[in-house]
Amino acid sequence: MKKLLITMIVAVLIAGEFFAACHADRRPGPDSNAIKLPPPVLKSSVSIEEALQKRRSIRSYKNEPLTLKEISQLLWAAQGITGGGRLRTAPSAGAVYPMTIYLAAGKVEGLPPAIYKYYPHSHSLEFLKPGDFRENLSEACYGQSSVKNAPAIIIFAGNLDKMSSKYGTKSLNFICQESGHAAQNVYLQAVSLNIGTVVVGAFEDGEVKKILNLTGNEKILYLMPAGKI
Ligand SMILES: Cc1cc2nc3c(=O)[nH]c(=O)nc-3n(C[C@H](O)[C@H](O)[C@H](O)COP(=O)(O)O)c2cc1C
Repeated sequence: MKKLLITMIVAVLIAGEFFAACHADRRPGPDSNAIKLPPPVLKSSVSIEEALQKRRSIRSYKNEPLTLKEISQLLWAAQGITGGGRLRTAPSAGAVYPMTIYLAAGKVEGLPPAIYKYYPHSHSLEFLKPGDFRENLSEACYGQSSVKNAPAIIIFAGNLDKMSSKYGTKSLNFICQESGHAAQNVYLQAVSLNIGTVVVGAFEDGEVKKILNLTGNEKILYLMPAGKI
């Protein structure tokens, strides 16, 4: 009887966690601020082997806007939903998914210059803050020109609170490891789109957070400027 009771409690806890994870970050943003992205394309003429062979860090870009389709594809590669209603393109310790992807758009067709937040479940963007912040972000990255000149910058942030209830002192390691997976996806997707990108790890955490208006226990993990080659 006692064994049955314990089994039932564990089952309820697991189910609770599953449902909590399913509902996490599902909000597409307030209706007036939500921007639905074009659906991701799942076929390409570039093989995974070619993408691996060609992947390079590229720091200068054409002075041309990116399209919404290209942005959609890069964001999907970073954290898009690919299975079971909640599993994503990149792995996550315990399927907790503590990362949030932000977009600083400067020159993107169909997107006013602004900071946006990506919602994987609805594959949409939430408009957060108007303005072109590429120059500010570049300053926060010690003046790196790739950040200033790219039409758009993808920013990875990890929520330590979300991770630490389950993984305690391992949380920071896990979050950093996860950003590596997601960033590599963006690199490979970029090759297939003929877009250049680079992971920028040298930045002032506090300065980037200020630009994004982040106040919680979120850690900036990477910036990835992206633009046509
Ligand atoms: C953790 C990490 C941090 C990095 N930070 C920067 C950076 O701040 N700026 C930059 O231009 N490149 C940065 N890079 C990219 C490396 O310079 C690049 O990967 C390296 O020169 C090898 O070139 P490849 O990526 O073309 O193979 C970083 C790479 C890693 C893995």
